[in-house]
Amino acid sequence: MNRNLALEFVRVTEMASIASARMMGKGDEKAADQAAVDAMRSMLDSVDCKGKIVIGEGERDEAPMLYIGESVGSGNGSELEIAVDPLEGTTICANGGYNSISVMAIGEKGGLLNAPDTYMQKIAVGPDAKDVIDITLTPTENVKRVAQAKKMIVQEITAMVLDRPRHQQLIDELRQTGCRIHLIGDGDVSAAIATALPESGIDILFGTGGAPEGVIAAAALKCLGGNFQGIFKPRNDEEVERAKKMGIEDINKILKLDDLASGNVMFVATGVTDGSLLEGVKFKPWGARTHSIVMRSQSGTIRHIEADHHFDKKPRY
Ligand code: FBP
Repeated sequence: MNRNLALEFVRVTEMASIASARMMGKGDEKAADQAAVDAMRSMLDSVDCKGKIVIGEGERDEAPMLYIGESVGSGNGSELEIAVDPLEGTTICANGGYNSISVMAIGEKGGLLNAPDTYMQKIAVGPDAKDVIDITLTPTENVKRVAQAKKMIVQEITAMVLDRPRHQQLIDELRQTGCRIHLIGDGDVSAAIATALPESGIDILFGTGGAPEGVIAAAALKCLGGNFQGIFKPRNDEEVERAKKMGIEDINKILKLDDLASGNVMFVATGVTDGSLLEGVKFKPWGARTHSIVMRSQSGTIRHIEADHHFDKKPRY
């Protein structure tokens, strides 16, 4: 995969983040998401590739743009599979909260799992604990293993969990272990990535969130040298059927990192609102400043890109 493509793709998340950042705090989730989708879709065709959306805004009949199977890119260059979340944390952005991002993962043909829009139970850690987690074991056992791998005591381990009623049992069990818990309102892609960033102070992500977000997070953790495991958690028979149609033969399979993201993958994200991973878009008299992260699994290089966009020299998205 051409390494320069990573810098082409970051232009796409930059524009999506600028467009959705204008909708921050307006209480309109749909409008914020639509702004990100429109900007992302129009920028994608400037990238030299034969891209196919494998994770997007839904199936063709329910999403006019960035639908699963849609061809994107200029049509020249290599065949790529692209997972997009133009605005990860729509509620966060609509409420002017922390940690909404615009994000994409890019893989080679067959490299990203075509995950249906259902739930996924997830566990994620950074490089220090990558060999010790096992989603089939209890949260208690996983916390103990992470503490041991990091040479810390359980009371010093911080677990991140989406604050949802479905997680009450998980939270109760984690409290019993004595570990610290950081509950978040939304945004488990950023949370999964945080486990691999020492400055975040987050050691492990537990809980059930969106399956598409799981694939995107897995691609990021592959680049960061961490680990991610998942199990689909369909909410009804219709979701099981939909998964089958998308080629998921065993809905109960334990999905390891390489089942979710294999081969060479790239990950790009730009902050929409301020967050632990990325700063949000800052509008200026001359334009806007964005903060992005660009990662490639092949090299393990992590680039932080701060970009100043001058609206007198390029279109205002
Ligand atoms: P959206 O940006 O699509 O709203 O997703 C935000 C998010 O918090 C994800 O990070 C997470 O995986 C999922 O929603 C959790 O789903 P739910 O809100 O249904 O619990």
